[in-house]
Amino acid sequence: MNEYLPGLEGVPATRSNISDLDGIKGILTYRGYPIEDLAINSTFEETCLLLLDGRLPTRAALDDFDRQLRRNRVVKYNIREIMKYLPATGHPMEMLQTAIASLGMFYQGDECLTGSDMCQDLNYVHNMSVKIIARMATIVAMWEHVRNGYDPVAPRKDLTYAENLLYMFSGEAPDPLYAKIMDACLILHAEHTINASTFAALVAGSTLGSPYLVVAAAIGTLAGPLHGGANERVVEMLEQIGSPANVPAWLEDKLSNKEKIWGMGHREYKVKDPRAIILQGLMRELMDQRSGNMSVMFDTALALEAACEERLAPKGVYPNVDFYSGILYREMGLPPDQFTSIFAVARSAGWLAHWREQLGDNRIFRPTQVYAGESVREYVPLDQR
Ligand code: COA
Repeated sequence: MNEYLPGLEGVPATRSNISDLDGIKGILTYRGYPIEDLAINSTFEETCLLLLDGRLPTRAALDDFDRQLRRNRVVKYNIREIMKYLPATGHPMEMLQTAIASLGMFYQGDECLTGSDMCQDLNYVHNMSVKIIARMATIVAMWEHVRNGYDPVAPRKDLTYAENLLYMFSGEAPDPLYAKIMDACLILHAEHTINASTFAALVAGSTLGSPYLVVAAAIGTLAGPLHGGANERVVEMLEQIGSPANVPAWLEDKLSNKEKIWGMGHREYKVKDPRAIILQGLMRELMDQRSGNMSVMFDTALALEAACEERLAPKGVYPNVDFYSGILYREMGLPPDQFTSIFAVARSAGWLAHWREQLGDNRIFRPTQVYAGESVREYVPLDQR
């Protein structure tokens, strides 16, 4: 193929068994299971194992995996020490990339990769995946305390993954509905075919780099506002709008200046993102718990969605997962600049499932290009230019 397709739109980058989506029908499946079923019936722990192993685990396999995750939540104090030297004003995604990359120095384990051309040791791959998934939440929540000048809250082994994440943020036992919402959000964000960050993970994995560096590459790629960074921008945008009454004029202004509406649109979906529909249901549950008392930001979001439906739906632009996750996290009191880090916590499962798949049939990524520069020319010495 010699044709250059910007953004590689429609170009298959890999062959994968992990997830699939139909952007016209609005269907997303992990290993063949619809996301709606997983969000209601599964847990993040089970979904991780489904993504990694390709099948729903037995009770014994799930219990064992859950125990492994709980055992691996603690990180060495050196990581906390590194965090103390990072500027509190730095972005949490930059901290997360730094901390995850540094884990490779404290918890070595890339012998399997460097010792052979291809890693077929599933035990090694599984153990590394557990170590990383378990510590992602710990690191993200630790930063919340360290950047505010406090020692982090230690992880608890008696809590589920979602409960422990919320507990480590607040230091208090989480509200059961918040824990249910967080668990569903982690499931919904865990995997999404070959998006930009997963592609970055594949490219890094194909060089046989350590899984810490694979995940660090993916974290750096997720951070941008066109990808995972959109959920944080959604909240900033809603704060800027202020109230539902301001929506029409604000939207008109943005669209006439050809600016993006954060949390709207998707390369693959030309209908409403199925994950956004599930998140809306969770928002309704939260509303019921609060007898309808939600923040003005929530009402502004609903007004913005309605206004966008009129203006953007004809282009196939609808709310995506980031529109609602940002609002939900905000309602749950989580800091907006940590939203993308929480996304990364969940997506680490998908990245590592793709890393494992890549290692199973590896060939280093080395695409070609369409050269559009100068043809060969003579070098002009400095004093003759
Ligand atoms: N706000 C306003 N218009 C949008 C839009 C948005 N968020 N997303 C897409 N559009 C418009 C584009 O302006 C373009 O219109 P045109 O044909 O008149 O020029 C059309 O819809 C197609 O969009 P395009 O930018 O070509 O889509 P893409 O596949 O290259 O980009 C995204 C996909 C996700 C990067 C893009 O929709 C976007 O930037 N969304 C906001 C960021 C976001 O929420 N990202 C999270 C994704 S999960």
